Amino acid sequence: MKFLSVAVAALATAVASVSASTNFTIFEPWGETTWTAGKTGTVTWSASSDLLQSFCEIHLLTGNASDATFVTNFTANGNLIPCNYTKANLHPLPDYASGQYFIRIGPNGGATDNYAYSGFFKYVGNGTVLPEGETATTESTGATPATNVTEGSA
Ligand SMILES: *[C@@H]1O[C@H](CO)[C@@H](O)[C@H](O)[C@H]1NC(C)=O
Ligand SMILES: *[C@@H]1O[C@H](CO)[C@@H](O)[C@H](O)[C@H]1NC(C)=O
Ligand SMILES: *[C@@H]1O[C@H](CO)[C@@H](O)[C@H](O)[C@H]1NC(C)=O
Ligand SMILES: *[C@@H]1O[C@H](CO)[C@@H](O)[C@H](O)[C@H]1NC(C)=O
Ligand SMILES: *[C@@H]1O[C@H](CO)[C@@H](O)[C@H](O)[C@H]1NC(C)=O
Ligand SMILES: *[C@@H]1O[C@H](CO)[C@@H](O)[C@H](O)[C@H]1NC(C)=O
Repeated sequence: MKFLSVAVAALATAVASVSASTNFTIFEPWGETTWTAGKTGTVTWSASSDLLQSFCEIHLLTGNASDATFVTNFTANGNLIPCNYTKANLHPLPDYASGQYFIRIGPNGGATDNYAYSGFFKYVGNGTVLPEGETATTESTGATPATNVTEGSA
């Protein structure tokens, strides 16, 4: 619950400004982006120079500013990415239900209100996989990642 309220507060800021962070700029995904279950999702960003030696997390969320749902930690289980990458490919995207989603990126273990938030973009799927926030599993800490995170070629 504590985690959720932090996320919601940060999102309220993010909706007005798209990115709440001075440390990152997210270029993709954005409003015209569509992610399709089973395909590859691409995230592109730039990080400030003080983060170039850090490892970053990418999270997927859905819902609105007053009711955000944590969907998944793409960078669970050793999938952390160096913040100095500028592009990551997520493959295959899990089969979450179609809707409006957003991502955030920030340093591993950092406060999520310092993360950068993308705008909403469209996600297309049949919903055979539930958001972690709606299941009782410890998937984000225990299981093998369902989605590989690899550096994209620039
Ligand atoms: C990120 O941004 C926040 C707020 O803008 C700032 O306090 C912090 O020092 C920056 N750097 C890191 C590594 O989070
Ligand atoms: C979702 O359902 C449609 C229609 O049955 C199917 O064509 C598509 O492959 C399904 N997508 C996934 C990711 O399972
Ligand atoms: C990028 O990050 C990795 C992992 O932290 C680090 O080893 C590497 O030196 C960094 N590269 C630059 C150019 O900062
Ligand atoms: C936010 O989501 C909740 C639950 O889905 C909904 O009841 C509420 O109307 C939504 N608010 C806005 C501004 O979309
Ligand atoms: C995401 O996974 C990393 C391990 O790769 C972990 O350190 C981090 O705490 C996780 N974040 C969340 C929000 O679960
Ligand atoms: C993820 O990467 C591993 C090792 O690179 C590979 O063996 C596996 O097939 C990949 N899984 C998917 C779903 O792409």
